Amino acid sequence: MTSEADPLTLVLVGPMAAGKTSVGRRVARKLGVPFVDTDKRVVAAHGPIPAIFEQHGEAHFRALERAAVAEALGTGGVISLGGGAVTDVATRTLLIEHPVVFLTVTPAAVADRIHSGGRPLLAGDDPVGRWTQIFEERRDWYDEVASVTFDTSRRPMQRIADDIVAWRRDCLLYTSDA
Ligand code: S3P
Repeated sequence: MTSEADPLTLVLVGPMAAGKTSVGRRVARKLGVPFVDTDKRVVAAHGPIPAIFEQHGEAHFRALERAAVAEALGTGGVISLGGGAVTDVATRTLLIEHPVVFLTVTPAAVADRIHSGGRPLLAGDDPVGRWTQIFEERRDWYDEVASVTFDTSRRPMQRIADDIVAWRRDCLLYTSDA
């Protein structure tokens, strides 16, 4: 669970709207390392996510996402993955050697966070119902890759970020004592 290249490398996974980007940005700032959002990397190189899904399908998006994750892990820092990255076995394999934080959130809390568009998998009449179903389908994969889990439903993102930084520093202390 250590990264030889950068001891502060840390990966954030979790369902859509769990707060991966807002928490990740804050964690990176506190640790003094770069922040990478792999969705943003994919968009910068290939255009908007809804268009990728529409024109090339989800499998193509997963391949682009996997490449972005591999590249980000190569450079290091705090890396936030899209909610569905864990559905891809090769992406899960890439995460094996890294500390992975799983951010959870309740359907009630997510309802306030998913009004904006841009998430093709939540398009339709019942985004929260869809979100809940997708989260349940993926939960075992999140658990499989996670080193630790934090819930973002009720506490300010900065507090959650502080807890993650404390956890990471504890891990490093423990590792250097061993
Ligand atoms: C997806 C989550 C999105 C984005 C894409 C697919 C998913 O990222 O990667 O729309 O399958 O859960 P966020 O988790 O940042 O919304």
